[in-house]
Amino acid sequence: MSWINARRRRPAAGYAALLLGLVVVALAYGSLTSRGGVTAASAAVGARQDTTAGKNLFQANCSSCHGLEAQGTSQAPSLIGSGAAAVYFQMSTGRMPAKEIGPEQPRKPTTFTEPQIYEIADYIASLGGGPAIPTDEQVSTEGADTARGSQLFTANCAQCHGFAGAGGALTYGKYAPSLVASTPKQIYTAMLTGPEAMPVFSDGTLSPEAKRDIIAYIRETITEPNPGGFSLGRTGPTTEGLVAWLGGLGFLVLAALWITAKRRDVRPAEPGTEES
Ligand code: HEC
Ligand code: HEC
Repeated sequence: MSWINARRRRPAAGYAALLLGLVVVALAYGSLTSRGGVTAASAAVGARQDTTAGKNLFQANCSSCHGLEAQGTSQAPSLIGSGAAAVYFQMSTGRMPAKEIGPEQPRKPTTFTEPQIYEIADYIASLGGGPAIPTDEQVSTEGADTARGSQLFTANCAQCHGFAGAGGALTYGKYAPSLVASTPKQIYTAMLTGPEAMPVFSDGTLSPEAKRDIIAYIRETITEPNPGGFSLGRTGPTTEGLVAWLGGLGFLVLAALWITAKRRDVRPAEPGTEES
C-alpha cells in the first residue's frame, strides 16, 4: 500500500487520476445522452414518390391494428383521411406502432428512420386528405416573435401542458405530456392533428405564423436549447459542449494543482510565514 501513497503524492499521478476521472464522466454522460435522441435529421425529402414502399412498411408494421388497407379494425381507427402529418407525429414521437392498446400512447424511442416515416406518411396521404407534413422552412423559428408565442402558449396550451410545459394530468387516466423532448416539426404536427385529448389547431385557429411563434417560445424556454441551431439530433452538440466544459474544468483544476504544487516547493524557504 505504501507504494500507492508514495505515488499519490507525486503531482503527475494526481494529474493522471484527474484526467481519467474526467474521461470516465464524459463517456458515461455521452452514453446516457445518446440514447434519447429521436432523429430529427431531415434527410428524408429525396425518397418519396412511390407509395408501394410505404404500403409495404405499413402492412408489415401497422396493419395488424389498422387493417391491411388502413381501413381500421375493432382495435384501431381508420387512417384514411388522417393525413401525413398525423403519421409523422405518431411515428416520430414513437407512439406508433403501438405496443398495446391503452388510454393513451406514451412517447418512446422510434425504431423507424425519418425516410421510412415519410414513406408511410405518403402512403396514408395517398389514401386521401389530411394535413401534410410541414417543410423545414415552415417550422423554422427564425425571426419568430417569442413574446407573442408566450402569450399564445398561455392562452391555448398551458391549461393542459402547464405554464412551464412540464405536462399534467387530465381526466380518465389521460395526461398532457411534457414538451421537453418535442422537436419543432413534432410540435407543429401535434397542433395540426390534435392527438388524443388534444384539440386540433387548424391554420384557421392558429395561423402558420402563430404556430411558429409558439414553437419558438417552447423551444427557447421549455425544450433544452439546441446549440447546433438545426435539429440534427441533439446528442452531438450537447456532448461537444460537455467535452468543452470538462476540458475547461480540467484545465482550471490542473492550473490549481500546479499553483499549489509551486507553493509547496516554496514554503520551506520561508519558515514561519504560514503554518502548514
Ligand atoms: C397495437 C395496435 C396498433 C399498431 C400496431 C399501430 N397502431 Fe396506430 N393506433 C392504434 C390505436 C389504438 C390508435 C388510437 C388511439 C390513440 O391515438 O392513442 C391509433 C392511432 C393512430 C394514428 C392517429 C389517427 C389520427 O387520425 O390521428 C395514426 C396516424 C396511427 N395510429 C398510425 C399508425 C402507424 C403508421 C402504424 C405503424 C407504423 C400504427 N399506427 C401501428 C393502434 C395501433
Ligand atoms: C385539452 C388539453 C390540451 C391542450 C389544450 C393542448 N394539448 Fe398538446 N397534448 C395533449 C395531450 C393529451 C397530448 C398527448 C396525445 C397522445 O399521446 O396521443 C398532447 C401532446 C402534445 C405534444 C406531443 C408531445 C411529445 O413530444 O410527446 C405536443 C408537442 C403538444 N401537445 C403541443 C401542444 C401545443 C403547442 C398546444 C397549444 C397550441 C397544445 N398542445 C394544447 C393535450 C392538450
